[in-house]
Amino acid sequence: MASTTLPFLYTALQLLTLLSIVHFSRVIATGVNWGTSASHPLPPAQVVQLLKANNVTKVKLFDADPDVLQALAGSNIYVTVGIPNSMLRSLNSSLKAAESWVHDNLTRYVSDGAGSVRVEFIAVGDDPFLQSFGEQFYPFVVGAAANIQTALVKVNLANKVKVVTPCSFDAFQSESGLPSRGQFRPDLNKTMAEVLTFLNKHRSPFFVSISPFLSYHQNKNVSLDFALFREGAHPRNDSHRSYKNSFDLSYDTVVMALSTAGFPRMDIIIGQIGWPTDGAANATSSVAQVFLKGLVDHLDSRLGTPLRPRDLPVETYIFSLLDEDQRSRTPGNFERHWGIFTFDGQAKYQVDFVHGSGKLINAQNVQYLSPKWCVVNNNKDLSNISAHALEACSAADCSALSPDGSCSDLSWPGNVSYAFNSFYQQHDQSADSCDFGGLGLITTVDPSVENCRFMIGLRNSLSVSLRRSSQFHWFISPVATMLLCLVCVIW
Ligand SMILES: *[C@@H]1O[C@H](CO)[C@@H](O)[C@H](O)[C@H]1NC(C)=O
Ligand SMILES: *[C@@H]1O[C@H](CO)[C@@H](O)[C@H](O)[C@H]1NC(C)=O
Ligand SMILES: *[C@@H]1O[C@H](CO)[C@@H](O)[C@H](O)[C@H]1NC(C)=O
Ligand SMILES: *[C@@H]1O[C@H](CO)[C@@H](O)[C@H](O)[C@H]1NC(C)=O
Ligand SMILES: *[C@@H]1O[C@H](CO)[C@@H](O)[C@H](O)[C@H]1NC(C)=O
Ligand SMILES: *[C@@H]1O[C@H](CO)[C@@H](O)[C@H](O)[C@H]1NC(C)=O
Ligand SMILES: *[C@@H]1O[C@H](CO)[C@@H](O)[C@H](O)[C@H]1NC(C)=O
Ligand SMILES: *[C@@H]1O[C@H](CO)[C@@H](O)[C@H](O)[C@H]1NC(C)=O
Ligand SMILES: *[C@@H]1O[C@H](CO)[C@@H](O)[C@H](O)[C@H]1NC(C)=O
Repeated sequence: MASTTLPFLYTALQLLTLLSIVHFSRVIATGVNWGTSASHPLPPAQVVQLLKANNVTKVKLFDADPDVLQALAGSNIYVTVGIPNSMLRSLNSSLKAAESWVHDNLTRYVSDGAGSVRVEFIAVGDDPFLQSFGEQFYPFVVGAAANIQTALVKVNLANKVKVVTPCSFDAFQSESGLPSRGQFRPDLNKTMAEVLTFLNKHRSPFFVSISPFLSYHQNKNVSLDFALFREGAHPRNDSHRSYKNSFDLSYDTVVMALSTAGFPRMDIIIGQIGWPTDGAANATSSVAQVFLKGLVDHLDSRLGTPLRPRDLPVETYIFSLLDEDQRSRTPGNFERHWGIFTFDGQAKYQVDFVHGSGKLINAQNVQYLSPKWCVVNNNKDLSNISAHALEACSAADCSALSPDGSCSDLSWPGNVSYAFNSFYQQHDQSADSCDFGGLGLITTVDPSVENCRFMIGLRNSLSVSLRRSSQFHWFISPVATMLLCLVCVIW
């Protein structure tokens, strides 16, 4: 008798262990998006150190920057590598191009050794279905994904790395504003059917962005309380289902859109979710903190949503790790301020998204330029200064000066000083970048006022500085390489 029950028990035990692992991984997986659209990005090695110090175990990238992948090597951090939209056309039309991409950007990093990069997902396209892009990328996404998949099979990585297609917050909608009528945007219907068939065939999850901030910002019918998971928010009822927050409402709209398209059980990963801290009403650190705490508590409660009770998103990636001063401002002035950390790796507020100490750790040993700022020289005739302010803002980041920005209270010409300084720091404090027809003045007195911070640029943004000056290049490159290697060895 024992001989028949034992194997059964053993199998049951195995199954249980497996189940508990799956269940466990469903709870802890909160990652961050790491974008690099910045004039002076924090060096990748320092960012990886920041991730490790804060126990972040998963990161999503928007491309396959070799410096970034190198820095992640041996870190044990799980990585989603991105493919920019600009590459989709060639990847769709050429399997060879897909094979080269996999060879250059994956194979060499994913060896089994201690120094490997743990790539989990390849994200084909950077929100290619964003409504503002129109239909330009529709014809390429599935073909590009299929070619990357074929290339993965060829090099035996298909069981290790999954191909996914990130979907923007505006790819799904509901006429009534309620989940029961959720569907994909009609213009996307045919493409989405192909995308979902592809994902389903390869057992890949559905990556989607959810943005209670944008729902609130764009749709006056979403109250701030509803977006912030607040208890007192007025619920929205969808027949017998009651929605207490914007997250659940959006999530179930996605669930319904997937069901309507024929894939009711597909796993969902929240590829981007966050709250910006500048450039719009209610885009502040304190509101962002309330939002993220609400999100983390909601996920921890494991309640799930009315349509998927006790069934959490498989993973959630916070958008974003750091502020990026070169992101497009088309969506709004808030776009450059999504970071939990400022551009230089300083926590804007405290949030515990890794089930840790609850205290975020700042980036260490950040190398700043000198404590110098560029301001308007008040002793000059300033009648022509607005042209210079425009010139500065067309290149530098002036988003904090926008009507709801952190520096909107600066009066003239203090606001022009802000613009001058942004330009000056972006140009590594070179003296000629504070000229402005003789109207600029370099000062060592910090002009910052209250919440309006006049920043000092980063010194060791090697990747950017190197591209700028070739003399510098020859001198610093071997040193940098040596340092990087040292860092690798120490880790
Ligand atoms: C995508 O690639 C396929 C296969 O090479 C090709 O037949 C198709 O024309 C391509 N689509 C576009 C829009 O170029
Ligand atoms: C690898 O990725 C980088 C960054 O996204 C890209 O510039 C490069 O073209 C890719 N390599 C190939 C062979 O596609
Ligand atoms: C706006 O919200 C209220 C409840 O907060 C709801 O009754 C109403 O139907 C909503 N209107 C639209 C157009 O979604
Ligand atoms: C919404 O549903 C909740 C709970 O089911 C109920 O208490 C509330 O009265 C409903 N609100 C409206 C406006 O129907
Ligand atoms: C969208 O696609 C689904 C199947 O995926 C289909 O049932 C539905 O009728 C389509 N809707 C439109 C507006 O084309
Ligand atoms: C949200 O913004 C509005 C308009 O600026 C303001 O009146 C309100 O106090 C803000 N609420 C919070 C919580 O910041
Ligand atoms: C990271 O994990 C370690 C070990 O569990 C813990 O001591 C530390 O407080 C955590 N750090 C943060 C920022 O949560
Ligand atoms: C302002 O600009 C105009 C036109 O470029 C020029 O003629 C004038 O001299 C300038 N004034 C000062 C004070 O620089
Ligand atoms: C500074 O403020 C003045 C007056 O409010 C305004 O006309 C000007 O456009 C502002 N300049 C910048 C760079 O924001």
